[in-house]
Amino acid sequence: MKFQAIKGVRDILPPESALWNRVEQAARSVFHSYGYDEIRLPIFEPTELFARSVGLDTDIVSKEMYSFEDHPFADLEGLKAQIRTRPIGLVNLTNLGLFDKDLEDFVPKVQQAFDRGEISKSPENVKMIETVSKSFREMRRLLTAGGLAPGTLQEELIGNIQAIQTNVGKIVLGDVLTLRPEATASVVRAYIEHGMQTRPGNVKLYYVGPMFRRERPQKGRYRQFYQIGAELLGSSDHPALDAEVIEMLLAFFARVNLTGAKLYINSIGDKNCRPAYVERLRGELQKLRDKLGADSQRRIETNPLRVLDSKLPEEQAIIDTLPHIADHLCDACREHYAELKRQLALRKIEYEENWRLVRGLDYYMRTTFEITAPGLGSQNAVCGGGRYDGLVELLGGPAATKGIGFAIGTDRLMLSLQEAGAAASCGLEIYIAWMGAQAYPAAVALARKLREHNLSVELPAQEMKFGKSLNLADRLGARFAVILGEDELAAAQFTVKRLADGDQRKLSEPELLEYLTKSRTA
Ligand code: HAM
Repeated sequence: MKFQAIKGVRDILPPESALWNRVEQAARSVFHSYGYDEIRLPIFEPTELFARSVGLDTDIVSKEMYSFEDHPFADLEGLKAQIRTRPIGLVNLTNLGLFDKDLEDFVPKVQQAFDRGEISKSPENVKMIETVSKSFREMRRLLTAGGLAPGTLQEELIGNIQAIQTNVGKIVLGDVLTLRPEATASVVRAYIEHGMQTRPGNVKLYYVGPMFRRERPQKGRYRQFYQIGAELLGSSDHPALDAEVIEMLLAFFARVNLTGAKLYINSIGDKNCRPAYVERLRGELQKLRDKLGADSQRRIETNPLRVLDSKLPEEQAIIDTLPHIADHLCDACREHYAELKRQLALRKIEYEENWRLVRGLDYYMRTTFEITAPGLGSQNAVCGGGRYDGLVELLGGPAATKGIGFAIGTDRLMLSLQEAGAAASCGLEIYIAWMGAQAYPAAVALARKLREHNLSVELPAQEMKFGKSLNLADRLGARFAVILGEDELAAAQFTVKRLADGDQRKLSEPELLEYLTKSRTA
């Protein structure tokens, strides 16, 4: 059996990983200069956290999450699956016998685990366990009353079995968890859990790590992807904060030499003005329903704002005719947005307004923004973010806390940098070519000393012919080869060869150390 990484995930190998490290290090350094500290978050959280914050009707929650039930009942899980999927459409004795046996096993075991408190005593579980037990008794009664023969009893029996299959599926054996599809919800959860509102000033946090979404893989879109994100939580919603967050983001992009990035901004209003706009939009969309594709038609009901996100070419002209939210903002939101633009101008930040920038997560209000980068094809958003003032309260925290933040798609940032020619080497500095058994102890000692000086050193474990050794040093991309053989041992000197141009010199140990540390790669 040959194992391969599963669809939509990938390995990041050297030397590319060196570029990733450099970029992540630049983020740490730039974010630090703006007063942000790192938060390390769990990779999985209760599903409910994302359902509540990102929103049930979003693509992420409705179809892209990797969720699982976390419990120790493998046997019950297996039985549950069998009960739910056994084909009972045609009532026959064999199938029914197996179905009955599974239930005979499942029902008391679930009941016992429930009584011991090992299965959640949620109202849904209480109801479902009771309903399934009752239906099971009823199923047996119908069977003994002749339910196998065609007729009304059989119809009742089939209905009963179908109800059991559905309801067994609703019994939740453990906590329902999800691999995080994003990290804003986790940051807010942590902020509330640790009472961070009592900390002085604004709470400024950044995170670096993998996220998981079951999307259709393509260039720049993966199922395990990486984000570098930052969140600012505090009592103020002043637009200067929004502008500074954007400034920090652009400072980071400048630090990693990303060229051609474009900033788009919008305001999507707040709970005072957005509902009326959404209704207006829905009304307009209903009139245009027949001209829209299936996804947009569905969104007229579930989330009309998301229609504005559509990339379908045939919908673009229709969307252009829809009302703009800018014309429907309340006074406070309009003023907030105007001040944001002033604050960006003050910082000499160029932007383009995009009234269709609504973002795919429900928690946003007022400011939304996105940054695109070249070289990415259709998945060209390298960063998305915005303000989410109601989220802390929604998740049970203090209503006074406001928030704004962003997340950069690191995979896409890397693609764009690489398209523009960025490359990294693994950075091997020194290769020690030793010859003769007596030279080995000196080579080991030298390698240790150089490494103590933070130089990257390769020491071959076995003796090699001189030519072969130097050839390997070259292929490994080492900058220097230090040659250590009988002559060098006798003279208490090392021969050091600069591989780029063949420059060669004989040096004592202190001279060698000085020479190598001075020419260290930055
Ligand atoms: P998002 O727009 O869902 O926002 O994701 C942010 C960025 O992550 C995207 O612009 C994109 O670069 C990258 N990304 C998303 N999905 C994938 C994928 N499947 N493969 C590769 N890259 C991807 C958020 O996640 C919000 N939490 C951002 C935020 C933070 N808003 C406020 N604070």
